[in-house]
Amino acid sequence: MAKKILFVGAEVMPFAATGGLGDVMGSLPAALKAKYDEDVDVRVVVPLYAAVSDTVRAQMTLEKAFTVQLAWRNQYCGVYSLVKDNVTFYFIDNEFYFKRDRLYGHGDDGERYAYFCRAVLEMMDRLDYYPDVLHANDWQAALSIVYLKTKYAWNEKYAAIKTVFTIHNIEYQGQYDFAMLGDVFDIGAEHYTLMSYDGCINLCKAAIECADKVSTVSPTYAHEIMTPTYSHRLHFILARNSHKVMGILNGIDIDFYNPSADTDIPALYSAEDVSGKAECKLAFQKEYCLPEAADAPIIAVISRLASHKGIDLISGVLRHVLDMHPKAQFVVLGTGEGQYEAYFRQLENDYKDRVRSFITYNRALSKKIYAAADIFLMPSRSEPCGLSQMIACRYGTVPVVRETGGLYDSIKPYFEDEAGPHGNGFTFANYNASELEERTSAALYLYEKFPAKFAALVNRAMTTDFSWDASAVKYMEMYESL
Ligand code: GLC
Repeated sequence: MAKKILFVGAEVMPFAATGGLGDVMGSLPAALKAKYDEDVDVRVVVPLYAAVSDTVRAQMTLEKAFTVQLAWRNQYCGVYSLVKDNVTFYFIDNEFYFKRDRLYGHGDDGERYAYFCRAVLEMMDRLDYYPDVLHANDWQAALSIVYLKTKYAWNEKYAAIKTVFTIHNIEYQGQYDFAMLGDVFDIGAEHYTLMSYDGCINLCKAAIECADKVSTVSPTYAHEIMTPTYSHRLHFILARNSHKVMGILNGIDIDFYNPSADTDIPALYSAEDVSGKAECKLAFQKEYCLPEAADAPIIAVISRLASHKGIDLISGVLRHVLDMHPKAQFVVLGTGEGQYEAYFRQLENDYKDRVRSFITYNRALSKKIYAAADIFLMPSRSEPCGLSQMIACRYGTVPVVRETGGLYDSIKPYFEDEAGPHGNGFTFANYNASELEERTSAALYLYEKFPAKFAALVNRAMTTDFSWDASAVKYMEMYESL
């Protein structure tokens, strides 16, 4: 019998997504299906946001429509489905909650995702589909596990469902006022202890306590969140549940991120023949009015512009780096905190012939930058997994990263010994601007003075395996162990 796995989460690529969670929800299910085929039945459930295009909607089938109760509320729920890459996607339709311009950041997010989680459990009964594993991702899906254990498990059809809670970023925990416990979350006072932490309701904490397994998106992050430096205060909870915590490194969709078949970039290339990468650089320089020079190193940053991504370190040293390497060019793509958006705008103004700042988010442009650039900066303070460093490698752009979380697990430092050259990037240990500057300069130095060595490093980066292959096996082993 095929193992039935249901992924629950707030976003999924390519339907509606804003970040790494969406990438994983969009690529891991298909990878499991590709690897285990008949042995798994993989489905995904997400809200039907306004952002889902009409073209996609036209391919959907309405499976069921019913009413979901949440405390005193009676809310409409439509369940639509569509199949892609042999994975069934369910979309929970309620326009009052989900027909909005942004996915999150609304005052009633707690209520919206409580409704969503409740709808997921009701959907099982209406579709007569009970998964073997309910795999909930991040705080927005946390209540699906809590509801299963507190409200549904008495029903024998639900009783056998096992649960996995995956933490993509422990910073966001779903913290709410106690007044919402019964009125919004529809949870009785008998579960007060389960739901509360640090003087408020904490949905992530409750899911950690209830889940059969807790996973995070890299082995190193699984260790880090056991410590106060990284746990955002949940280390006490994780420590007492440590027997069920594990880390599995994310992969990326290597077909979507594939420089030898990418329609968003001007010239195709591969590890065997990288000549197209130079064309991508020249085309980029031309399009954005930078000096056209194949030998001018381009440094890139593609990131949310937030200090925990290390943007404060970058802004501390970048001018000095550019002054020391007069040929180098710099490109940034992203939005975020006002101070950093302003910093990069000003930088472009001060280095008009060398810097381009795109204060926006644009997937197609991001691929053009990955293809055009040589060096990719990602000095995060913490990074549960990080996908950009993997994408950069895939496009032959050498990452400079801080040794934390998934960055530590995916990027190995460049060095040479008797056995030859090693590594697929540059790394540094401490969250410190001078360490970032020193490693960035080392990368530029190698690029400028030892082109053959740099080319070999590019080759090692491009041939590192970032596919889901190995990790899909680990997920399957985790499901089997339940
Ligand atoms: C979150 C994390 C990021 C991770 C992604 C997917 O966005 O911040 O590090 O790669 O989730 O798991």
